[in-house]
Amino acid sequence: MQTIIETLNKIFTESFKNAGYDADLGRVVVSARPDLCQFQVNGAMSAAKQYRKAPLMIANDVLGNIPENDILDEVNVVAPGFINIKVKDAFISQYLSEMATAENCGFAKLENPDTVVIDYGGPNVAKPLHVGHLRSAVIGEALKRMNRFAGNKVIADAHLGDFGLQMGLIIHELSCRQPNLPYFDESHTGEYPQNAPFSLKDLEEIYPYASAKSKEDEDYLTAARNATKDLQSGRRGYRALWQHIMNVSLQDLKRNYSRLDVDFDLWQGESDAEPYIPAMVQMMKDKGYACESEGALVVDVKEETDNAPIPPCIILKSDGSAIYETTDLATLVEREEKFHPDRVMYVVDKRQVLHFERVFRCAKKTGVTRPETTLSFIGFGTVNGKDGKPFKTRAGGTMKLSELLDTVEEKVTIKGEENIPADELLKLKQTIGLAAIKYGDLMNPIESNYIFDIDKFASFEGNTGPYILYTMVRIKSILAKLAAKNASHCEAPFFSVSHCEAPSFSVSHCEACNASRGNLPLQGQSPFTTFTTDSERELALTLIRFSHTLHEAVKKDAPSILCSYIYEIANKFNVFYHDKKILAEENETILHSLVALITLALRVLEINITLLGFKAPEKM
Ligand code: ARG
Repeated sequence: MQTIIETLNKIFTESFKNAGYDADLGRVVVSARPDLCQFQVNGAMSAAKQYRKAPLMIANDVLGNIPENDILDEVNVVAPGFINIKVKDAFISQYLSEMATAENCGFAKLENPDTVVIDYGGPNVAKPLHVGHLRSAVIGEALKRMNRFAGNKVIADAHLGDFGLQMGLIIHELSCRQPNLPYFDESHTGEYPQNAPFSLKDLEEIYPYASAKSKEDEDYLTAARNATKDLQSGRRGYRALWQHIMNVSLQDLKRNYSRLDVDFDLWQGESDAEPYIPAMVQMMKDKGYACESEGALVVDVKEETDNAPIPPCIILKSDGSAIYETTDLATLVEREEKFHPDRVMYVVDKRQVLHFERVFRCAKKTGVTRPETTLSFIGFGTVNGKDGKPFKTRAGGTMKLSELLDTVEEKVTIKGEENIPADELLKLKQTIGLAAIKYGDLMNPIESNYIFDIDKFASFEGNTGPYILYTMVRIKSILAKLAAKNASHCEAPFFSVSHCEAPSFSVSHCEACNASRGNLPLQGQSPFTTFTTDSERELALTLIRFSHTLHEAVKKDAPSILCSYIYEIANKFNVFYHDKKILAEENETILHSLVALITLALRVLEINITLLGFKAPEKM
């Protein structure tokens, strides 16, 4: 299906062209003044300069050249040259009807899909996930789902931090604590023990201890650096120990991500880039890009247009070991070889912007990445506490992600909790808690900092995840009540919701008769009749923007666009719900139309929250 804007663009680009102006000026946008019109064209203002004519005259020329159509109800010209548009109710109904029968509510996948690698999550092995990792996971997951839904081929990679100094710190600390382990005996040639010599709890204690110590004790730090280097150059015992650290830590990471409903296609890490490093370094040397500077091997990435000095990109440290830049570049080599991507996106804390700027420049300059491949840094802002400083526990420490999830789940209060069985209640709180966290994050522009306000996020009122879920459950409950009232409804196609392939989009609307779930074809005519209230038209107008809005959100890498959109739908639905007593409607035809409308609203909401990465319960 064409998006609503594409449909209107056709008319107005033609109008501009017919009137003798550049067709492109006829692009339609959603109204900025919904009190005056539904859509608008602002091209007359930009045309004024180009054609040396008053915008009002241009707009009037256009008005006289609109091709015949069944779509427009009213078109007005308003000073200084706005073209205000209202479409016919019959057109809205027709569009809704097409959405209702089409797959994915009429959303057309991209004609030229891209292969996109999304690098997000970025957890560091052996360190617990903390609130700082929340945004990467939540935003990356949403971008993955949105891109995939749009038709792009997406490869999601966790890019574990598993090769850096933290590994050397743990290995060195273990060698201090348990020097007799075979991993430290260089003459050991046999197998190593199958079980790790530490538990997850031990690891969680060892890393912060070693990290703190390295900051005070120079020799300790040097020893840890040496251990890192030995690990990288393949010392057997260290590799075996490293594998234990990976196994223990990864299990925990996977548990945490699954609690967040975040999943990766690849759980690759910095260490996986290692085999690609030698040839890459050789290539950079051979082609004359890499040179020695203060013992290290570097590539100069300055550009004439730089306002501030950009330090060179370090490829190898003076001791020959790989660093963060090295593994990121070698990972690009690997990604190019394996996936030939059109785009690589990095969802990382915006404070790493300079690192990525240098890596991207180096990758392009040296040919690691093809000129036509887009490298995108999606830098996100900080999660702050109510005091405006980075979010901490009450005691002032960094909060572990698992603690954060526990706290939010505790905050969620549900009416009549005491009557809900404990396991059901727990699940419900998890579902609502996750929506609270994810929506609270995703509603902000990615680059902005935001305040993590648990009370606000978990509220059922206002611009929150739970409010969206509450609205969806309200629709489900109306549909269930109607279904129960009329057991013969199973024949009626408009009660059926699951048109989409994905099972999560299906709604068990009917308690009386589960068998009615499924894909009943829409028979005969459009169910949508004349709107009974203005609020009904308002809801309908919002729904017909679905495909357009989703395409915008994908194009701009902006899940926040989807959040604003579903908030608008929820608000419009709730106004309509208070205006119109749906359950009391006696006219069959009107009732069918109302049911079709709220069913579609529910489906649109369902698709959007799935893309944002959360789910709605059946009841709450
Ligand atoms: N592990 C890194 C950190 O915690 C984030 C990794 C981001 N991805 C990347 N390709 N560098 O800061």
